[in-house]
Amino acid sequence: KPTHLSDYRPPAYRATHTELTFDLDSHATRVKARLHLERHPERAQEDDLPLELKGAKLELSSIAIDGQALEPGEYQVDDKGLTVPKVPTRFHLDTEVVINPQANTALEGLYQSNGMFCTQCEAQGFRRITFYPDRPDVMATFSTTVVGDKASLPILLSNGNPVERGELPGGKHFVTWEDPFSKPSYLFALVAGDLEKVEDHFTTASGRDVTLQIWVEKQNLGKTDHAMASLKRAMRWDEETYGREYDLDLFMIVAVDDFNMGAMENKGLNIFNSAAVLTHPQTATDATFQRVEGVVAHEYFHNWSGNRVTCRDWFQLSLKEGFTVFRDQSFSADVNSAPVKRIEDVSFFRTAQFAEDAGPTAHPVRPDHYIEIGNFYTLTIYEKGAEVVRMLRHLLGWEAFRQGSDLYFSRFDGQAVTIEDFVGCMAEVSGLDLGQFMRWYSQAGTPEVDAHGEYDYANATYRLTLRQRTPATPGQPHKLPLHIPIRMGLVGTKSGEDLTLTLEGETLGRDAVIHLREEEQSFLFTEVAEAPTPSLLRGFSAPVKLYYPYERNELAFLLAEDSDGFNRWDAGQRLAMLAIDDLIAAHRNGVEKVMDVRLVDAFRSLLTTSMKDKAVLAQMLVLPSEAYIAEQQPVVDVDAIHAARTFVKQSLALALRDEFLAIYEANTSDAPYAPEPEQIGERSLKNVALGYLMAIEDEKAVELAERQFEAKHNMTDVRAALTLLTHSSRQDLADPALKAFAQKWASDPLVMDQWFTIQVTRPQPDVLDRVKFLMEHPAFSLKNPNRVRALIGAFAGQNRVNFHRLDGEGYKLLADVVIELNRLNPEIAARLVIPLTRWKRFDDTRQGLMKAELERIRQEDLSPNLYEIIEKALNEI
Ligand code: ARG
Ligand code: ZN
Repeated sequence: KPTHLSDYRPPAYRATHTELTFDLDSHATRVKARLHLERHPERAQEDDLPLELKGAKLELSSIAIDGQALEPGEYQVDDKGLTVPKVPTRFHLDTEVVINPQANTALEGLYQSNGMFCTQCEAQGFRRITFYPDRPDVMATFSTTVVGDKASLPILLSNGNPVERGELPGGKHFVTWEDPFSKPSYLFALVAGDLEKVEDHFTTASGRDVTLQIWVEKQNLGKTDHAMASLKRAMRWDEETYGREYDLDLFMIVAVDDFNMGAMENKGLNIFNSAAVLTHPQTATDATFQRVEGVVAHEYFHNWSGNRVTCRDWFQLSLKEGFTVFRDQSFSADVNSAPVKRIEDVSFFRTAQFAEDAGPTAHPVRPDHYIEIGNFYTLTIYEKGAEVVRMLRHLLGWEAFRQGSDLYFSRFDGQAVTIEDFVGCMAEVSGLDLGQFMRWYSQAGTPEVDAHGEYDYANATYRLTLRQRTPATPGQPHKLPLHIPIRMGLVGTKSGEDLTLTLEGETLGRDAVIHLREEEQSFLFTEVAEAPTPSLLRGFSAPVKLYYPYERNELAFLLAEDSDGFNRWDAGQRLAMLAIDDLIAAHRNGVEKVMDVRLVDAFRSLLTTSMKDKAVLAQMLVLPSEAYIAEQQPVVDVDAIHAARTFVKQSLALALRDEFLAIYEANTSDAPYAPEPEQIGERSLKNVALGYLMAIEDEKAVELAERQFEAKHNMTDVRAALTLLTHSSRQDLADPALKAFAQKWASDPLVMDQWFTIQVTRPQPDVLDRVKFLMEHPAFSLKNPNRVRALIGAFAGQNRVNFHRLDGEGYKLLADVVIELNRLNPEIAARLVIPLTRWKRFDDTRQGLMKAELERIRQEDLSPNLYEIIEKALNEI
């Protein structure tokens, strides 16, 4: 059943040009395909190779080779595809199939969303459209004719350029599209519907005019400005930063309501989940504005890192995803606040990716086998892959990294390649030996680094000893040492300055990268004039857990003095963790909880010293999340974590009430909304302050929250206030606000998603009934992935105390939904079940309850997606 990387072979036949004609119909779309096929040169010597094409849920109505219809015995069709035992070495194959877009609830291949036809082909959706060598190393030029009813489908789109259009009998019309760039089938796209466009232009560095279009349903025409502006910024950035220019005359984005993921980089025709493209100050939060900017850039950047140079096979997925995430992160950092972007990315990474790496579905950045590739669009492939590329950038320095990138794009333009090809370019331009570094791609699990430092006054030396280990992960019991770049400084404890680093006689500067390659290695710094506090792993220079036995006063010192903004934030997080740990212990032992005054003092100085970057300050005031705290524990104690964190928050609010109030007032303004970094920073600081004030729910706080909710200034402020009112202990605050909000936004599904999420993340114990009640709400549907994520995903993923209820009802509810989704949308089902798969991290009672639900799911007739995840979770594979 599994596919293995080591079994890779070029295909027997490849397609060089593909002609498609779609006659669109909700229940019976006819797809005619003419594939120009030829024997792959690398397999020219083998005789009598059958033609094997992938195909799923296709009804074949005709088949011919070089114009000659095949007799029934001359080919076979099964549920995996089509086999023709005898074919010439070069020929064209004509097939006609019938497919049913209306019945396609998996949202892979051709399906309908609000009446509009659209496609999602990555990774293996194209085989649900026609019989095809559906693998990324088969690259062809495409010519696509779309035929549809003129009244209901006035707009007919596909990849490339429109070359012909016309009227047809029976009220139909057609458009023919030609894509001159060879591409794999996963980049194919088709859209047809009653859409309207917003159009703009971009002039490329070499002076070509590109038409930019965003296609949406009529009611969303006012929500495209930010995506368009982001697209133009991204196009300019990629020219300036990577020397990459756009290559067609037309670039289109389409917004679709029913979509499994965020978006898709189809050549010239990016298709987006409407949640990742539509914005308006009244309906979208700052976080959404920033996400849209990032996703628009990500998909655009794929035009080079993914489309012009693509993946040889799906094991190489991180070749395009890791590199493209790194590129979009760098873009967002450049056009917003770089330290905030890094803090946000790392804090997400250290909770979500670390958890994945520590669970039963842990896998390397390049997996070596899979059952269902759809299960591998993960944080490890995307985010850890991006961290690995970031390490390369730091190892080489920007100049050489850019040279390596140029070499990669020029050498492999138009090809389907591997991670070795990418890293090979980096090694070639830099002369570095990246052999050991390659282990980052093959070894799963989060490396742990223990650090110890010793200052020798007499000799003015500082010895830093580092020891690394990577825990065993499924299928990988033994790990080898990795090449870990550790960016660091030594901060003089008296001066508060970064001291010059001299290592083995070489002066490295005040901020330098040291290379840990051995299991244990020690670094002797000389001429260290004063006792230092080490600032390690600055900017999170490697995706590892770093342990150093910091004292609280050292952390408070780094929080105030570290020259690296990221490590200042991290010192604050570590200081808060120590306080939270004490309280978790107190909670368990049933002793009185006492707040750590050093944390209060540290927060007081943060609140009273004016900081330039308000968004960074806001981040520094956010306590580690319950999910992050859970990651630090050998056995997750859900209730103690919640109690301890709540206690810290309330204690800080009580002790610093006036300071939080002052911050709230100083950052409240009625300037017109703009999604600009400075305003975003102010809003997030203000709303963090309001969050603390609402933790004690005094009269003043309630008044501010209600006033902010009613002012309806923008969705960021409205949502923050509504969340605090809803999550308060007072039903009389929550109910009227929720009701008013729902009345106002009933017809905007993306806003209603926020309404669902806010309610199901309430910490109150009655929330389970609320989840069940909301599943019956007319705005909810199991067929729409955004609704499922907003309601069920948010409950299971964010409401830890209630999902992990000791009566097991939270688990049961999730399992019931997963079982239903297994039939409707296997990809979403397999994602949704993940929280249950982490059962080993909990106490015996919860383990038993979670396992029982996994066993219950297993009784079903499972899709390959869910089968793979469930078997891994139950340790069977
Ligand atoms: N390549 C897309 C992106 O990262 C994601 C496509 C995911 N498709 C899937 N079936 N999981 O932008
Ligand atoms: Zn991507």
